[in-house]
Amino acid sequence: MSARVPGPVMVAAGCGGTGRELEPYAGPEGLDGLDFVTRSITLDPRSGGPGPRIAEVPGGLVNAVGLPNPGLEHFLATELPWLVRAGARVVVSVAGSTLGEYADLARRLSRAPGVAGLEVNVGAPDEDGAGLLAVREPFHAAGVVAAVRREFPTDRPVLVKLRPDVSRVVEGARSCHEAGASAVVVGNAVPAAFPDGRSGGLSGPAVAPVALRCVAEVHRALPGVPVIGCGGVRDLPSATAYLDAGATAVQVGTALLHDPTTVARLRAALRPTAHPPAAEETP
Ligand SMILES: Cc1cc2nc3c(=O)[nH]c(=O)nc-3n(C[C@H](O)[C@H](O)[C@H](O)COP(=O)(O)O)c2cc1C
Repeated sequence: MSARVPGPVMVAAGCGGTGRELEPYAGPEGLDGLDFVTRSITLDPRSGGPGPRIAEVPGGLVNAVGLPNPGLEHFLATELPWLVRAGARVVVSVAGSTLGEYADLARRLSRAPGVAGLEVNVGAPDEDGAGLLAVREPFHAAGVVAAVRREFPTDRPVLVKLRPDVSRVVEGARSCHEAGASAVVVGNAVPAAFPDGRSGGLSGPAVAPVALRCVAEVHRALPGVPVIGCGGVRDLPSATAYLDAGATAVQVGTALLHDPTTVARLRAALRPTAHPPAAEETP
């Protein structure tokens, strides 16, 4: 697959809003040239889950936002053109309740001007509750990737976003790469519960060691497969930990909710070399 894999710093799905919310904090370049993963887009609009959707816990957040999004048509008419005008390299995260929905999303997005790539979301912490296709096994994930890849031009990347589950992640990465994924994003929010027992996903610094272990295992087993680290990236040391473990890029999620300048600082710190010493980070 000759598609360019994004990086080294990307905005994680759902954490940069529509882009407009992030732009004022994106530094002198704004969103220009930034690899921006959209919130997950579904064919039909989704209003998201009932509140409260986010709770702060030690080391991170538990969320159950439920993938709120305006649906594909509205996204194509409003959010995508704005992001493209802002200069972002737009990677559209897609989520569906059937294989056919994933394929349909990929087909229609392949024709939309400015879509730099797709990220297939098959690692949501609670897909049953969210009404998404249940992806329990690596071959399920590979099936979704194959359905998307068939509909999307091979010169543009299709990423797949997997759960940071160390017992399955290498198998998942291998199957998805064989099915045509250009790179594997590891991982997503970790299945967790709110203090009142409702299901949600844990994200932020608390999940970084879990995702880092998964990234290291995937890289060790499949050194030829580009891996993108996602989970708890908030500063240069947490980003370089992933790069040192073999990741080609990192995605920044929860940190943006605490400090939306995080991506701008990391972009500056990781340019021009991929591994500057930690002391070079600007405060
Ligand atoms: C508020 C919120 C919304 C999110 N929305 C999405 C989404 O739409 N699609 C998706 O694939 N991941 C979504 N995620 C997961 C993040 O992209 C990321 O994978 C996860 O939070 C781990 O990274 P982090 O610790 O840097 O946040 C969301 C996370 C949060 C906290």
